Amino acid sequence: MRFNDETVEQVKAANDIVDVIGQFVKLEKKGANYFGLCPFHGEKTASFSVSPRKQIYYCFGCQKGGNVLNFVMEYENFSFTEAVKHLADRVNMPLADMDAYKEDRSERDLKEKLLQINKEAAYFYHDKLMSEDGKRALEYFKDKRRLAGATITHFGLGYSSKTPGELYRYLKEKGYTDGELDKSGLITIDEKGPKDKFWNRAMFPIMDTNNRVIGFGGRVLGDGMPKYLNSPETPIFNKSNILYGLNFARKSREKFFLICEGYMDVIALHQAGFTNAVATLGTALTEQHARLIKRYTDTVILTQDSDEAGVKARIRAFPILHDAGLKVKIINMGAYKDPDEFIKANGPDAYRKCINESKNAFLYIVDCIKAGYDLSDPAAVTDFYKDIAERLTVFTDDAERNNYIKAVCREQLIEYNDLKELSDMAVLKTGRKPVPVSTVAPVRKQEPEIVADPKLLKCEDLLLYWMATRPDIIPYIEREVSPEEYGTEIRRLIASEIYAKRNRFVVSDFIDRCREEADRSTASTIFIGQMYRTEDDGIDDRSLEKLLTESLRTLKSGKLDQKIKNAGSDLLLMQRLLKEKEKLRSIQIKIESK
Ligand code: UTP
Ligand code: MN
Repeated sequence: MRFNDETVEQVKAANDIVDVIGQFVKLEKKGANYFGLCPFHGEKTASFSVSPRKQIYYCFGCQKGGNVLNFVMEYENFSFTEAVKHLADRVNMPLADMDAYKEDRSERDLKEKLLQINKEAAYFYHDKLMSEDGKRALEYFKDKRRLAGATITHFGLGYSSKTPGELYRYLKEKGYTDGELDKSGLITIDEKGPKDKFWNRAMFPIMDTNNRVIGFGGRVLGDGMPKYLNSPETPIFNKSNILYGLNFARKSREKFFLICEGYMDVIALHQAGFTNAVATLGTALTEQHARLIKRYTDTVILTQDSDEAGVKARIRAFPILHDAGLKVKIINMGAYKDPDEFIKANGPDAYRKCINESKNAFLYIVDCIKAGYDLSDPAAVTDFYKDIAERLTVFTDDAERNNYIKAVCREQLIEYNDLKELSDMAVLKTGRKPVPVSTVAPVRKQEPEIVADPKLLKCEDLLLYWMATRPDIIPYIEREVSPEEYGTEIRRLIASEIYAKRNRFVVSDFIDRCREEADRSTASTIFIGQMYRTEDDGIDDRSLEKLLTESLRTLKSGKLDQKIKNAGSDLLLMQRLLKEKEKLRSIQIKIESK
């Protein structure tokens, strides 16, 4: 860690978790906690909770949890250092440790190294493009692709020259090691030595939402194969959650996003004034993409290529986008292959007209699949209707689905009852109803001690929750349960910290010391407290005494039962255990008023 603990604690203290998360998630107060739709997995009922008191969040659906720093790291894809800096900036807090930060270069984590390497490479390729070596590539961009100088600069386009090993040597001089360069994916190192991955290609740096270069696409200057090469997957480059152009599109004033297929489509659209265009990196659109888009807009217009693959991509993308809560429309570009060609041929105004005339995605899809059926054959007609009915299950809301049935029937001249019946059947069969939160089985992240009885763990969690909430009760619990008696490693750790620190135990600081995501998740679920908090934190002392007494008795008797079971033929031990069990009835917590 580069910042000392105190700095990190100050930064956290200055950034209230409800304010920070509230910028991205609509939160509603219920009892002591806030609830909203989880930004980390698709859901329709709010199972994402934030505790203002403990300054943590936890999702009962996907088990993600942590403090305000973990949230920013997860949401913005930041490293720990970046998250601290971001939150400090947010409240205009100067960071005294910035000098230390500059010095210990060697300690920076790999992700930060890879970001630096990519950034250096982007400058290197861009300078190359502007140099004598890059003349042909620059001509390609300017003449062939009709890009203005300003566009080339805006997107940071570049050129990887024909001279072998140029980038490798450049980066080596900057002090990066072979291991780091290999991991960046820009250099491949094998028994024949180091080689630049990109060679004689037009280079497209790929940026994340925070304008950091995380990878590259490289296009051949002519007709060679493969047309595009991309950076391989690295710790900072994962195609299923990156959209090309999103760093600019998120700032666009338009109310919708345009989704297209290629680097050149995005660039041509932005150059023509449509700065709300994004593209996947040659992969199919994923749920993660959809959720990413949903952060910035409620409506998308699909403008993928007009060829068969493009149409398939639109049909596939629709349910994913719809499930993420997006309204979806589709553009018809007539005979033109992609937005790039359309705009080159017809100009921005004609494209604007296409946007204004874009069609409801579902009705478009029905049109497309219709072409696959020979409707002069009655059997095929039924299949066509069934196909529509199955696709209609994407609309889980009955009223919405019914509106679609009516609209499809009107357009396709189908009898309402014919389609309605098939649709009802399809809904029964696939039953795409939203899953209620309570039935989502909590995924137990690898917890080695399987012996721990969940019922007893629940008692332990209740005790831990209340000790963190009401430090005055710690002595009563400490007397009854020693740290090593808790059922799992993480609970033992929490208990010993609480016992040691008493009212100086701070949940969100403890979470900073959890290395494993599974531990953060367990700690967050314990301290969010939703499972066992009776009503509110405003519980009176008598009820709390009762709650704690019951939990202690259940816990201790459960532990004794386990021991009795294991005592085997040791009669003496058995007798002692039974006696201890007798005594349990005398456990009685009495909170002395402060
Ligand atoms: P296209 O071939 O439609 O790209 O592939 P494009 O941008 O229209 O290409 P130009 O106009 O001929 O230059 C769409 C996207 O698929 C990925 C790239 O991300 C590309 O932008 N792709 C394509 C690859 O990754 N590898 C390839 O060989 C081809
Ligand atoms: Mn193209």
